[in-house]
Amino acid sequence: MAATDARVLVVMGVSGSGKSTLAATVAERLGWAFAEGDEMHPAANVEKMQAGTPLTDEDRWPWLGTIAGWIRSHLEGGVPGVVTCSALKRSYRDVLRAPGVVFVHVAGDTALIEQRMSARSGHFMPTSLLASQLATLEPPQPDEAHLTVSADRTPQDEAADVVARLGLHPVS
Ligand SMILES: Nc1ncnc2c1ncn2[C@@H]1O[C@H](COP(=O)(O)OP(=O)(O)OP(=O)(O)O)[C@@H](O)[C@H]1O
Ligand SMILES: [Mg+2]
Repeated sequence: MAATDARVLVVMGVSGSGKSTLAATVAERLGWAFAEGDEMHPAANVEKMQAGTPLTDEDRWPWLGTIAGWIRSHLEGGVPGVVTCSALKRSYRDVLRAPGVVFVHVAGDTALIEQRMSARSGHFMPTSLLASQLATLEPPQPDEAHLTVSADRTPQDEAADVVARLGLHPVS
C-alpha cells in the first residue's frame, strides 16, 4: 500500500516497549484520534487479568473484535486514528487488518524494556511476563503493512520517524 494511504495506525509490541507513549505522541502530533486497546477488554477479561489469570486466545477474540470495530468506524467515518494493541500474533493482526491500517511495531532490546518496566510506577509486570511476551511475539512479516520503530529514542524522535516514513500530515 502507498504510505499515504495510512488512516489508522495500530501501535503494537510487547508490554513496556512504549506503545502507549508513542501512540499518544503520534496522535497528538497529527491531531488524530487516540485510543488504548487495553481499555476495550470485556469485563470478564478485566476480572481475569485482575486475578492474575493469563488470557487465552478465546478470551482475546471478542476484545480484538472491539478494537477492529473502533478501527472500522474510524476508517468509514474518515476520522484517522491511532490505537494501541500488543497484537503479538499474526492471527490477532488478521482481525485488525484492513485497507488503510498500518501496524507500527515498537521494538527494543530486552534490557531496555526491562529497565522501562521496572521504572514504571503503578504497574506490576514481572520479568517472566516479558519473557513470555517475547516468546509469543510474531513480528510483522514483509507482506503485512507495517513499519518497525526502534524504541531506543525519545518518544518525540520515534513519533517524528513514524510520521515521516508514512508521509502523514496533521488533520486540518
Ligand atoms: N521512548 C521512550 N523513552 C523513554 N521512556 C519511555 C519511552 N517510551 C516509553 N517510556 C516509558 O517506558 C514505560 C513503558 O511505556 P508504555 O507504558 O508506553 O509501554 P506500553 O508498551 O504501552 O506498555 P503496556 O503494554 O504495559 O501498556 C513508561 O514508564 C514510559 O514512560
Ligand atoms: Mg500501554
